[in-house]
Amino acid sequence: MAHVFVSRQLPGSALDRLRAAHDTTVWPEQLPPTPAQLREHAAGADGLLTLLTDHIDAELISAAPKLKVIANYAVGYDNIDVDAATARSIAVGNTPDALTEATADLAFALLMASGRRIVEAAGAVRTGAWKTWEPGGFLGADIYGATIGIIGLGRIGQAVARRAAGFGMEVLTTETRDAHNLEHLLRRSDFVSLHLPLTSGTHHLINADALALMKPTAILINTSRGAVVDQVALAQALSTGQIAGAALDVTDPEPLPLEDPLLQAPNLLVVPHIGSATWTARERMAEISVDNILAGLDGRPLPYQVSAQAGF
Ligand code: DGY
Repeated sequence: MAHVFVSRQLPGSALDRLRAAHDTTVWPEQLPPTPAQLREHAAGADGLLTLLTDHIDAELISAAPKLKVIANYAVGYDNIDVDAATARSIAVGNTPDALTEATADLAFALLMASGRRIVEAAGAVRTGAWKTWEPGGFLGADIYGATIGIIGLGRIGQAVARRAAGFGMEVLTTETRDAHNLEHLLRRSDFVSLHLPLTSGTHHLINADALALMKPTAILINTSRGAVVDQVALAQALSTGQIAGAALDVTDPEPLPLEDPLLQAPNLLVVPHIGSATWTARERMAEISVDNILAGLDGRPLPYQVSAQAGF
């Protein structure tokens, strides 16, 4: 029987399968283990089931001599030093497919909420700021027939494109490697939606220069990773009206400190990294993570093994 450390309680019953097969310790707290606590638990573990809030760096990996498999409960795995794991022949798994549609739904929900000022309008009803129906009240952007720019055409980007087609939108797409196409997309889009993994090539891809290319009426949507956007530049672009709005499921760091200047910026909607937060997606992510751990401990290929090329 191997020992597996699971860094948080997971929805559904997948962990019962893990407990039945292996000696399993589940971190019981709501907040993640500290780096020192994680390292202490990893030291004796054959398998680690981790979350995107756990930093699995080379130091932790070298302090875990028995480790055979790391299953990340996420499609993104920028929290794991995959090179360091691979150098030790430790398999690394993730949970694509399970959350594709849920995350695309959330991207579209953010697009519609920010385009049509839903949060602001609902707030005005509750506070009594809404006095009467008026022709110029709460005017927002058209969504049907607008142009959406999708940056990153992996599973989630494609799922967003399918939704956009239903709204009669013109869909522009690009991968980051194509700078010319990216510039064209930024200049033309009414909504720009990010669906990229965080890598050294995508870090701060949306910087001051990229924001300057966007229309003053455009809205930026980010459901990928916070650090794909330069948040200082974004706060500036929102404050000066260089773009019309932004809706973020992800920030860097998470949560944003309440005093972060970005939170003072106008026309900004931020939600707490809930892209995959449906019962079905989160339970399926747990099942896949457990399948990955069981395969890795058996010495089999993981059903969802990460590869350096994979996108979202
Ligand atoms: C992921 O899977 O990478 C999301 O950010 C959380 O589900």
